[in-house]
Amino acid sequence: MEDQRKSVLSCIQPTGLMHLGNYFGAVQNWVKLQEEYRCFYGVVDYHAMTMPYDIKKLRNKTWDLTFDLVACGIKPESLFIQSLIPEHAELGWIFNCFCSYGQLTRMTQFKDKSRDSQLKSKDNFISAGLLDYPVLQTADILIYKADYVPVGKDQDQHLELTRDIAQRFNSSVGKEYFVLPEGLHTETPKIKSTADPSRKMSKSAGEKHYIGVFSEEQRIRKQIRSAVTDTGENTSGKMSEGVENLFQMIKASGKQLDSYNSLMQDFENGGLKYSDLKEVVADALVEMTNEFKEKRDAINENKRDLKYQIKQSSEEIRKVAQDTVKEVKDLVGLLNVKF
Ligand code: TYM
Repeated sequence: MEDQRKSVLSCIQPTGLMHLGNYFGAVQNWVKLQEEYRCFYGVVDYHAMTMPYDIKKLRNKTWDLTFDLVACGIKPESLFIQSLIPEHAELGWIFNCFCSYGQLTRMTQFKDKSRDSQLKSKDNFISAGLLDYPVLQTADILIYKADYVPVGKDQDQHLELTRDIAQRFNSSVGKEYFVLPEGLHTETPKIKSTADPSRKMSKSAGEKHYIGVFSEEQRIRKQIRSAVTDTGENTSGKMSEGVENLFQMIKASGKQLDSYNSLMQDFENGGLKYSDLKEVVADALVEMTNEFKEKRDAINENKRDLKYQIKQSSEEIRKVAQDTVKEVKDLVGLLNVKF
């Protein structure tokens, strides 16, 4: 029987550790959505090649991140690894021809990441893949005809491009073939760096700018203890970005909520002690992440089975992708032959 549920698609790049921005901004939502929707969650290794990267490490990073996702509560049957489904790249090529070059050069992430790429490479290298990245992202989404895309705020512009490409495609082929997907945000769509709350938590900014979900307890506590709260005299009574970020992390963790309420009262009465706040944040994060770490340890004992399961689920999910690509090739005038 055909699955009638609405579908959800989202992906994460295997460029390093999963951090609290990824978890609170996206992955936490992915877990919840599995109860109601047909979910497709990808570990996108083709995307991870767009910046200078270590070829020897990519495959392990891809598996590690896949295991991390399962430890956080993603079901193996929702998961796929992008390079096991080459139709993503095929559809990406087709979409290149329905996307304007100018629009790609205006993507803010392209501007930021091309600067990072030049710094990381020896020869000022910016790959054409980095420019083209949002088109492949569009293929990731539309290949499963996703209704919803749960992502952090930093992905809004890419999602807008996805909708533009879907619209141009539909009007070119004279058929409302693709649904225009909608983004879904958590209550914390932009987690900030604790070292510099004016920027988002991210791996590319360097180690002190992100807290790994699977980091050691001591490291988490240390990073929270040194979190920036107020950068100067704050006489407005308004909460600073750094303090707000810390409060948001407690709330998003779902732990220490009684302490959250009383600390919020302290803030409103003008009597909040940052050291108390930081201790509660660290306790909440350690409590939450310990649960994931326990599951991750159990996975470590059983990696072979899980790898097998993920390969199987990628094969199942690939069938959906193949059906879409076949229909798209018919629609755009390409040949479809079964050899
Ligand atoms: P990536 O791998 O950088 O991040 C994965 C998810 O985590 C979210 N995120 C954040 N949310 C809140 N606060 C933060 N500080 C923070 N940092 C990261 C991201 O918004 C994302 O949802 N281009 C995507 C990967 C991708 C994709 C897709 C996403 C490829 N194809 C198709 C959705 C649909 C990326 O680089 O995410």
